[in-house]
Amino acid sequence: MSTLDITVYDQYSNEELLTRLDLKRLPRHVAVIMDGNGRWAKSRYMPRIAGHYEGMKSVREVVTVCREIGIQALTLYAFSQENWNRPPKEVGMLMKLMEGYLKSELDLLLEQDIRFMTIGRYDLLPKPILQWIDKVEAATRDCNKMVLTIAVSYGGRGEIVDAMQAILEDYQKGTVTIQDIDESLIERHLYTTSLPELDLLIRTSGEARISNFLLWQVAYAELHFTKTLWPDFRRRELLIALLDYQTRDRRFGRTLQLDRIQTSGKLS
Ligand code: IPE
Ligand code: IPE
Ligand code: MG
Repeated sequence: MSTLDITVYDQYSNEELLTRLDLKRLPRHVAVIMDGNGRWAKSRYMPRIAGHYEGMKSVREVVTVCREIGIQALTLYAFSQENWNRPPKEVGMLMKLMEGYLKSELDLLLEQDIRFMTIGRYDLLPKPILQWIDKVEAATRDCNKMVLTIAVSYGGRGEIVDAMQAILEDYQKGTVTIQDIDESLIERHLYTTSLPELDLLIRTSGEARISNFLLWQVAYAELHFTKTLWPDFRRRELLIALLDYQTRDRRFGRTLQLDRIQTSGKLS
């Protein structure tokens, strides 16, 4: 079955959704464009920061559920390179919120055995945030139930530029030749090199765009777009996204039905 109609899940409770999930066919790596905080706040006549604050609760819940069911890697888009163009007051508040998150989550991450990592260009980040990132990354280095990656000051094009620069530096040193440049070499220079292949990308808030997130990695990821605003995206919405993922036939350019006939002798 392949369906883009997720209203079929409306009839199920959260427990039922969980039992319908095939835990052996989970995406290895899930990434989320956490969008819609501002609209969530606006619809309640609240300041935008209230939406960001409520969105942090979704972060906590999504991290916990992913860890609970056995997702290997979760990557969250928290702040894009383009987000530096927002009004300084909002940027400042987002930075404060991020610092607060790092301070408050360390114990929980250790308790849940989650390794923490960030990706992005750190030159513009305030010093206290950088110090906390270092601290949380170092403290959780040996955790191995799940890897939580937060993309801050991140841009997909910037990531590819950084990879190109690193490869050209190796070329200048003579450690890489033009013939060595292939997809696997480029991948080894991306920020995400230590993470499994991206299987599922979720975007909340009804926008159907990538907004410069994981441009290389998204090549064969399944995409799940939902109208739910990020602060409302909790356990239930995540389970639905995972179930939706499991309805997809991932063909990677092949004719899957023919492969199945050839390998098993009958159509499955
Ligand atoms: C996502 O919510 C959070 C960040 C980009 C930091 P937005 O702040 O983009 O919320 P909307 O899209 O304006 O509703
Ligand atoms: C994408 O959301 C970035 C993050 C979620 C961090 P935006 O709200 O910045 O994206 P656009 O402007 O709608 O493309
Ligand atoms: Mg937005």
